[in-house]
Amino acid sequence: MARSALLNVMVAAADKAGRSLARDFGEVENLQVSRKGPADFVSKADMRAEEIVYRELSKARPSYGFLGEEGTEEKGDGTHRWIVDPLDGTTNFLHGIPIFAVSIALERQGELIAGVVYNPVMDELYVAEKGQGAFVNDRRLRVSARTDLADCLIGTGLPFLGHGNQVRTLSELQQLFGSIAGIRRPGAAALDLAWVAAGRYDGFWEHSLKPWDMAAGIVLVREAGGFVSDAAGRDKFLDTGSVVVGNEIVHRQLLKMISAAGGPKAGPRS
Ligand code: IPD
Ligand code: CA
Ligand code: CA
Repeated sequence: MARSALLNVMVAAADKAGRSLARDFGEVENLQVSRKGPADFVSKADMRAEEIVYRELSKARPSYGFLGEEGTEEKGDGTHRWIVDPLDGTTNFLHGIPIFAVSIALERQGELIAGVVYNPVMDELYVAEKGQGAFVNDRRLRVSARTDLADCLIGTGLPFLGHGNQVRTLSELQQLFGSIAGIRRPGAAALDLAWVAAGRYDGFWEHSLKPWDMAAGIVLVREAGGFVSDAAGRDKFLDTGSVVVGNEIVHRQLLKMISAAGGPKAGPRS
């Protein structure tokens, strides 16, 4: 697959940051047994990855804006903006679980037009650009074709200390338990979305996310033929923090489930 110049820039940045994370991930295991634990080390690994992504992207596209989870913010030309999570799946990383990724998206005039998600341990590089399809390691991706919820594996995210709405989540899960093949919560939203693009899960929904958790993955899902909306079926995912994805039928079923559980506004948002 011949990649565009834009994707080449994004892939180079994701690859460099991913290699740095993979090296640090090797160290985390040694630190698990130390008294202080690996938390400090991991937050340094996270910052290091963001610095690498910022350096690479701003060298290649100096006029573009930048929004990174670890605090890097540049206004830029007002037209283009990188949206970056240097380490999505921090809790997994900290616990030695190899489900984490670098996530880089590009927004142009408020529209998401390209996304790269890279898991350096599994060596899976997901790329997508508007109108050009989605790929993992150069293999074309399609969302799953399953339409019967009884066969569907659905991914989600769950609340944790200080984050998310437990009442709403429990009520949503209750709507699904009896009618689907299984639920997964691997702990890295960027990869959850990439896995829907790859047809591994049939659908995914999560609330209380930040733009950097979902921006790149949304491009992947769309370019793999999937449907993407917020919890109310609109396209305000980056503003509301809720994202619902799947093939057309599964996406619709998930929206129905959210509505039956009390709707997009059920309970306070955190
Ligand atoms: C988190 C992961 C997780 C999601 C959380 C995010 P982080 O990102 O994407 O799956 O449930 O809401 O904050 O902190 O690992 O970058
Ligand atoms: Ca994240
Ligand atoms: Ca992060």
